[in-house]
Amino acid sequence: MANYQLSWAWQTAQNELAQALPRRWAHSQGVARAATGLASVVTFDHDLLIAAAILHDVGYAPGLAVTGFHPLDGARFLRDEHQTDDRLVRLVANHTFALLEAEERGLRAELEAEFPIVDDQLLVDALTYCDITTTPDGSPTTALARIAEIVARYGPDTVVGRFIQRAEPEILSTAARIEQALAAQPR
Ligand SMILES: [Fe+2]
Repeated sequence: MANYQLSWAWQTAQNELAQALPRRWAHSQGVARAATGLASVVTFDHDLLIAAAILHDVGYAPGLAVTGFHPLDGARFLRDEHQTDDRLVRLVANHTFALLEAEERGLRAELEAEFPIVDDQLLVDALTYCDITTTPDGSPTTALARIAEIVARYGPDTVVGRFIQRAEPEILSTAARIEQALAAQPR
C-alpha cells in the first residue's frame, strides 16, 4: 500500500504554491487534470500519477528552494519534511527529464544517487507528458508549443533553455508514445 493520500498531496502542493506562486499553482492543477485524464492509459497507480502531477513543481516554492534546482529541492522537501512515499518522491525528482537538466547544473550524480528513477516507464512517461502538454497557466497545449514557450521564456542559451532543447527529441517521443496509447483506447 502506498503511504500517501491524494488529498494530502493536493493540500501540501496548495500550501506551498497557491499564495507564493499562483501561476505555478495553476500550472500544477492543470498537470493534475491532465493526469486525471490518463485513467484509461495508466490504470495501475493512477492515483500515484495524479499525486506526482500536483506535487511535481513544489520545489519552486520559495520556502523550500535550496539548490535552485526544483526537482531536487521538491523531492528532498517531500522526503525530509513529509516522509513521502518513495516512488512519489522519485517521480517528482525525475519529472520531465530532470536528469538532463541536472547535467547542465552539475547535479546529475547527486540526483541519481539520492533519487533513482522509478522503474515504471509508463508512469515516468505519463508524468512528463502531462507536464509538457500543460501551459504555465494550466491549459492544455502541445509538446511542441510548450517547448517553444520554454525556450522563449528562459532564452535559448540559459540552463533551462539548453536543457529543453537537448531534451526535445526525447520529450516528443514520450508525447507520441502516450498519444498512441490514448488513441488505442476504445472511446
Ligand atoms: Fe511543470
